[in-house]
Amino acid sequence: MPGYELIGNEELAEIQDVFAHGGVLFRHGFDGLRNNCYKVRQFEQEFAEKMGVRHALAVTSGTAALRVALAALGIGPGDEVITQSFTFVATVEAIIESRATPVCAEIDTTLNLDPNDLRRRITPRTKAVIVVHMLGMPAHLPEIAEICRQHNLILIEDTAWGCGGNLNGRPLGTWGDVGTFSFDFAKTMTTGEGGMVVFRDEAVWKKAAAWHDHGHENNPAVPRWEDTRASSGFNYRMMELQGAVGLAQLKKLPGVVEAQRRNRDALWRVLSDLSGIEPRGVPEGSYDTADALVFFVPDNSTALRCRQELLAVGLATKILPEAYTWHFAGTWTHMPELVAAHGGNLTTAFPQSHAILSRAVSLPVGVNMTEDLPNRVRHAIEKAMKS
Ligand SMILES: Cc1ncc(COP(=O)(O)O)c(C=O)c1O
Repeated sequence: MPGYELIGNEELAEIQDVFAHGGVLFRHGFDGLRNNCYKVRQFEQEFAEKMGVRHALAVTSGTAALRVALAALGIGPGDEVITQSFTFVATVEAIIESRATPVCAEIDTTLNLDPNDLRRRITPRTKAVIVVHMLGMPAHLPEIAEICRQHNLILIEDTAWGCGGNLNGRPLGTWGDVGTFSFDFAKTMTTGEGGMVVFRDEAVWKKAAAWHDHGHENNPAVPRWEDTRASSGFNYRMMELQGAVGLAQLKKLPGVVEAQRRNRDALWRVLSDLSGIEPRGVPEGSYDTADALVFFVPDNSTALRCRQELLAVGLATKILPEAYTWHFAGTWTHMPELVAAHGGNLTTAFPQSHAILSRAVSLPVGVNMTEDLPNRVRHAIEKAMKS
């Protein structure tokens, strides 16, 4: 959550640096004007280094990151892509935009993809799996990666919420063939709008780099206006001011995640002994980003009461329960492609996910937490549980 809590002088200095070097706002070219200042290129290099991968590509959003990934991996009409029923609409929208078929699977108490249900949803047309680390919690990556290996499926990690987290020390986003990130304004690190794609395979990176830039291969042997191309593409290029902000935010990322984890733990300490509250599932070896504190209450009416009691004292929940319909595929009747893939009836397609999500409460976790906040939260939740 708190990228935006920490926007300050470091981001401003990076932006001023762009103007001090000629004010070129385009990521390519204008070499004579820019005095060797390439913020997006530098952001990609430093992000790749931090993630321990060789290639990263900056794009305009987390949604664009997914779309570019699917295009570069050659996923399109006739292919089924399985993702989880609890995610943001963007994950499924990117599959639809690719003209592939979106299929959703159940989640378990981690609020991420249930490996057993994933196995059941695989068909001969399945080409890829998009696993999501919702609300900062790692998915069951070793099991899911093994299922993909056994069935020869591409694994994509939607790491919109997981930037800075890891599982068994391996950064989220680097377990799959491709990892995508979002830097929208509400994410752990932000460039206002923006995203990143990281790659295992150099050839896929090259395809993505061209596809997100109208097919430009950026061939060093010719000027850009005579550039070579092998396919058409689109424009999802990040611009220099976003790259500048990203460089400053990236330096803050480890501290942000540490602070969130500390504050999440402080909140959990005051809530965990309340009768009727159960913790979220945590895969072994998880270092989650603690973007939110999720717990379960006995039923949906208690979950709704938790929100009401928090609102009454000027606090709030985050996503659950209030933004359920934007994040649960069982409600996405406005997506005919998804409805058709689930036999025409979405509302009964994910009973396990529905049962889990309807009694989940998610609290926002920030970097700048006041000392009295945990007790104010406890008081509100206690009241909700008793009434
Ligand atoms: C799971 C997930 N994937 C993708 C996105 C899309 O990111 P963006 O807002 O940068 O397009 C989001 C945004 O919240 C998200 O939650």
